[in-house]
Amino acid sequence: MRRSTAALVVAGPLAAATMATTLSGCTAAPPQTTRPKIGVILPDSKSSARWETADRRYLEAAFRAAGVAYDIQNAQNDKQQFSTIADQMITNGVTVLMIVNLDSGTGKAVLDKARSQGVATIDYDRLTLGGSAAYHVSFDNVTVGRLQGEGLVRCLSEQRLARPTIAELNGSQTDNNATLFKQGYDSVLEPRFRSGEYVKGGDQWIPEWDNVQGAVIFEQLLTSNRDISGVLAANDGLANAVISVLRKNRLDGKVVVTGQDATAQGLQNVLMGDQCMTVYKAVKQEADAAAGLAVALARGERPSVGQTVHDPTGDRDVPAILLAPRAIYADNVKDVVDDGYVTVAELCTGTVAARCAAAGIR
Ligand code: BGC
Repeated sequence: MRRSTAALVVAGPLAAATMATTLSGCTAAPPQTTRPKIGVILPDSKSSARWETADRRYLEAAFRAAGVAYDIQNAQNDKQQFSTIADQMITNGVTVLMIVNLDSGTGKAVLDKARSQGVATIDYDRLTLGGSAAYHVSFDNVTVGRLQGEGLVRCLSEQRLARPTIAELNGSQTDNNATLFKQGYDSVLEPRFRSGEYVKGGDQWIPEWDNVQGAVIFEQLLTSNRDISGVLAANDGLANAVISVLRKNRLDGKVVVTGQDATAQGLQNVLMGDQCMTVYKAVKQEADAAAGLAVALARGERPSVGQTVHDPTGDRDVPAILLAPRAIYADNVKDVVDDGYVTVAELCTGTVAARCAAAGIR
């Protein structure tokens, strides 16, 4: 093949085209009628409801609208399973592989393998440090964290507490997003810890964003520090774990809790006054952007996206699309419903119905 390629260059484009046809005729190249196929690996279904309730649905809709074949699978937080799914997708002839890594190490192995087989890759939502994805599609994750920090400050100021004690429950330390969220909220909180305006009452990473472990870890923090009056919980799942512990300790509604993802449960907690705020990331925009890139890549195009993110591990600027997150408080939960992200039927159940009515959500 190497000799043929050299010959093609010398012989010029027209001859090259003819020879390429001849060559493809004698190799096992896929027939021209093969539809491009896009593979997507989602991370799990427990660390956040979003992956199955939002990302899957919006990606499916986008691929269907584009008329491409697709295969969306969920690794259920199993790294072995993650690479097995990737291998199967590559064997089954995906043209593009989109992943939400479980950590950068296993993510990188999958991306590198795909790339070596000529499969184009996209880092969806989470950047794989040291990886080789052609594109990254996500939100401005430092801004997500900043909105959480500002939300905590806003809700605490309404309580007029002197020197409130704050605990931080970060996401998974192996998720680059969790690092970026922390960078964002620490930019708001650290100056207040330094000045003595706030007191730090714990700062813990929650392995794999595990909500159950989140509750255990928070309960330990609360036991050793009954003064905690604010919790920077990195997503709605962790926020709900915190709220369940607060409820058990009859402290619900007395501690300010943040979140992220605008899940139905998170929004219910916000409407009920158990959670101060959440961050809405319009996953439809993220899925549409990623699907658009995937379809272009499948056609052999390399669209320019005008933005990059820096991967400090690989020292590489990765072409990126980063969308804008929005802070959601009880008074603008309605916007998330109006956007079609959650339905009134999911949100306004039981005791929440009256709050929905008061908030004009119907
Ligand atoms: C995502 C969040 C999600 C978390 C846990 C992060 O990488 O950006 O939306 O809550 O993972 O799944």
